[in-house]
Amino acid sequence: MARYLVTGGAGFIGSHLVDHLVEAGHEVVVLDNLSTGARFNLPPQVDLVQGDIAEFENLPALIARVNGCFHLAAIASVQQYQEGWAKAAKVNFYGSVRVLEAAARANVPVVYASSAAIYGNNPLQPLIETTMSRPISGYGVDKLAMEHHAEALKTTIGLRATGLRFFNVYGPRQVPGSPYSGVISIFLNRLAAGQPITVFGDGEQARDFVYVSDVAGALMRAMSWTAAGNCGVFNICRGEAITLNDLIRVLAGVLECAPEIRYEESRAGDIRISLGSSVAAAERLGFTGNVALEEGLRYTADWA
Ligand code: NAD
Ligand code: UD1
Repeated sequence: MARYLVTGGAGFIGSHLVDHLVEAGHEVVVLDNLSTGARFNLPPQVDLVQGDIAEFENLPALIARVNGCFHLAAIASVQQYQEGWAKAAKVNFYGSVRVLEAAARANVPVVYASSAAIYGNNPLQPLIETTMSRPISGYGVDKLAMEHHAEALKTTIGLRATGLRFFNVYGPRQVPGSPYSGVISIFLNRLAAGQPITVFGDGEQARDFVYVSDVAGALMRAMSWTAAGNCGVFNICRGEAITLNDLIRVLAGVLECAPEIRYEESRAGDIRISLGSSVAAAERLGFTGNVALEEGLRYTADWA
């Protein structure tokens, strides 16, 4: 049994990870400012420290007391940079550097959430970890910066860290009510309520969707790998992309509804096609995205 810190543990992906950790018998402490996360996402025995990763003074002490740190706290929306670029960067860049530095100085292994957004609009698909990264959003830039800081802290202080480049994660507990949330949670929620949905652009943009419990499993595997002295960066995806137009057709089948669709201008910083290869994660971490899209959509629809 070990003791883990999960930053952002009260959020969508973080709370699923917490469930996996608790089920495996580990002790968990969560650091979260509850900006999008919620206490009710967490099992009662989990210790919640309410604080901001960019400001919380006791962060080094908190990290020094654990066997490993999962760093998931972030402003998870690409679009939120359009509303306040520096404000988002303070969390995703500066806050992340604080977490990584504290872990490096305490010699605590870290697994952190990077993103497919680091690749930008690269025509070389499927994207592999060595594909050139050229982010087109502030969000992607800050996730890439986090990877570079982890690498530099490894070289200089000996940080053990692994970054997981999540593609588009979906599943229960993804907040449906916010315009900044993931597209599946927004579409499912609106379609189930008989409301119209908005597609930004022509709907031919494509995403590689991966189910949240598979992602939680990948985080667990990455921690074992990192604690054993390895470091790296891996895509976490299924290796299958679907356009939004096709996604809507699948959702209509799952919900047995006839969607009303409104098309609006595409959003700034939006990637066109995002299709990953998870071969490296399969080989090195033993990761596979087991849950197929339609199956995952059914689980999510049942929860919603
Ligand atoms: P989420 O918004 O549900 O979770 C983020 C959590 O971090 C929330 O609980 C929130 O309250 C907390 N948080 C935000 N700012 C904070 C701060 N300053 N200090 C402390 N806590 C803070 O989003 P999610 O989808 O679960 O994302 C988790 C991580 O995975 C993020 O780092 C995100 O960038 C990354 N990611 C998500 C996806 C996806 O498709 N959902 C894909 C790639 C990467
Ligand atoms: C998502 C994640 C981001 C992650 C990235 C990795 C969220 C909120 N964002 O970004 O954290 O790093 O994947 O690939 O989880 N769209 C509509 N209508 C809507 C909402 C969205 O058409 O109502 C479109 C968007 O313009 C975009 C696509 O759906 O083209 C996906 O959007 P979104 O779910 O916000 O995800 P990403 O921007 O891909």
